[in-house]
Amino acid sequence: MKIDRIGLITMHGMSRRRFLTTAALAGLTAACGSSSEAGASRPAGKPGFRTELRIPPLLRPEPGKGGVRRFQLTMQSGRVGILPGTSTATWGFNGSFLGPTIRAARGDKIQMAVTNRLPETSTVHWHGMRLPAKMDGGPHQPIEPGATWRPHWTVDQPAATSWYHPHPHGKTAMHVYRGLAGMFIVDDDVEVELPDRYGVDDIPLILQDKSFAADGSLAGDPLKGTFGILGDHILVNGTYDPFVNVTTERARFRILNGSNARMYNLAFSDRRKFHVVGNDAGLLPAPVTADRVSLTPGERMEIVVDFAPGEQVVLRSVGGSADIDEGDLELLKIVAAARLADSQPLPARLARTAPIAVPAGARVRRFKLNGHDAINGKEMDPTRIDEVVPAGATEIWEIENSVYAHNFHIHEVAFRILDVGGSAPPGYATGHKDTVYVPSKTTVRLAVEFGRHTDPRTPYMYHCHILRHEDSGMMGQFVIVEPGTENQISRTIPAAHHHM
Ligand code: C2O
Ligand code: CU
Ligand code: CU
Repeated sequence: MKIDRIGLITMHGMSRRRFLTTAALAGLTAACGSSSEAGASRPAGKPGFRTELRIPPLLRPEPGKGGVRRFQLTMQSGRVGILPGTSTATWGFNGSFLGPTIRAARGDKIQMAVTNRLPETSTVHWHGMRLPAKMDGGPHQPIEPGATWRPHWTVDQPAATSWYHPHPHGKTAMHVYRGLAGMFIVDDDVEVELPDRYGVDDIPLILQDKSFAADGSLAGDPLKGTFGILGDHILVNGTYDPFVNVTTERARFRILNGSNARMYNLAFSDRRKFHVVGNDAGLLPAPVTADRVSLTPGERMEIVVDFAPGEQVVLRSVGGSADIDEGDLELLKIVAAARLADSQPLPARLARTAPIAVPAGARVRRFKLNGHDAINGKEMDPTRIDEVVPAGATEIWEIENSVYAHNFHIHEVAFRILDVGGSAPPGYATGHKDTVYVPSKTTVRLAVEFGRHTDPRTPYMYHCHILRHEDSGMMGQFVIVEPGTENQISRTIPAAHHHM
């Protein structure tokens, strides 16, 4: 990150000191000198919590004509200090690593300009956004090196924590692993008294696991083995070994699993209870108390945690048996100030959106996840339309898993988990979602609400969000069309119309 880019980001919600720290961490290679005890080879699981959590800056939009908010993102390569005494070659948006947090409200007209300064073609997908297929940023909207892509849409969905990341077919795993990912917060005007001061009591946590070579470079092949990368160093917002100071009685954490394959079973070191207030696609109707929650790649969760003055607690991941959640990991130490500012009590009611209801006679579609590279026996083919869905439909999608751990993400939609292996989902996962864990040998049923943007020639994707699986073909394509025209829709996209 060059200093002149700092003009693009705002200090909203951050003290100047924290802002400068953040900018320095984002922009400079290891300022922290080499320290013999804090070597790169220290195994994960024995952290010292030495580095203050980096908070991604908010991206300030420029005002455009007709109330349009214009956001500029540049995909670029650079170097960043992650492990003490080393620097790592990485990719990022508007900086060397990760990206700024985009924040927009329901009703906003958004105009994006995404410039690719990388040496290869990429795309930027707005994961969780409800928008026309041409704006979605999947494999059919490539951005060549040197080019700028300008999608635009009007935000029309409830408040949620979304994110953005590349989606070039076969290369998503590598592009995300190198550092291309950022948070995208949607606000709405429903009055809910949740902590909302960004970086103060509303804190983004992007969880990612990486492996490093001795010289600090990223190691591991995201397309190797059954799952690709399961890194032995956990980064939060790109910070290794992080702590964060909280200054209020209650803080909200927006947690994004931005890992290639790893699943986290989140709990606190003292097993305290916390309040889950949001799933991927919006707030829950009411807070749900939990002491442990699971998050697979691509999923988000918002939690609110109560703190006592002066206490310290560690956010951990508890090892499980899913192959992608091995080992107990320490993620982040939270340090409460000796005096904490008052927070609003937790509201009893949150989202006003009704749960997604299944209409009588809803269409049922079945998807079988095969091995680690196919759905219903077919590998992803960018020229093939797999499913044609009428606009505005609510359908039941049944996802059956045979072997390995998988999850399932659907672009453009919100869904509700009906059941997992015949049982109701845990209370903390009953809200609007767009990505769901599908354990091995289990069937998950979803009530899926589709949007109303029609385009018979440009597909949206559904896929496993373990990026190694997505890249090797565990992905399919659907179009949303005018109801009644389903049978007239061509199931192939002429080669001239796709750019792979
Ligand atoms: Cu987050 Cu199709 O992806
Ligand atoms: Cu998506
Ligand atoms: Cu998978």
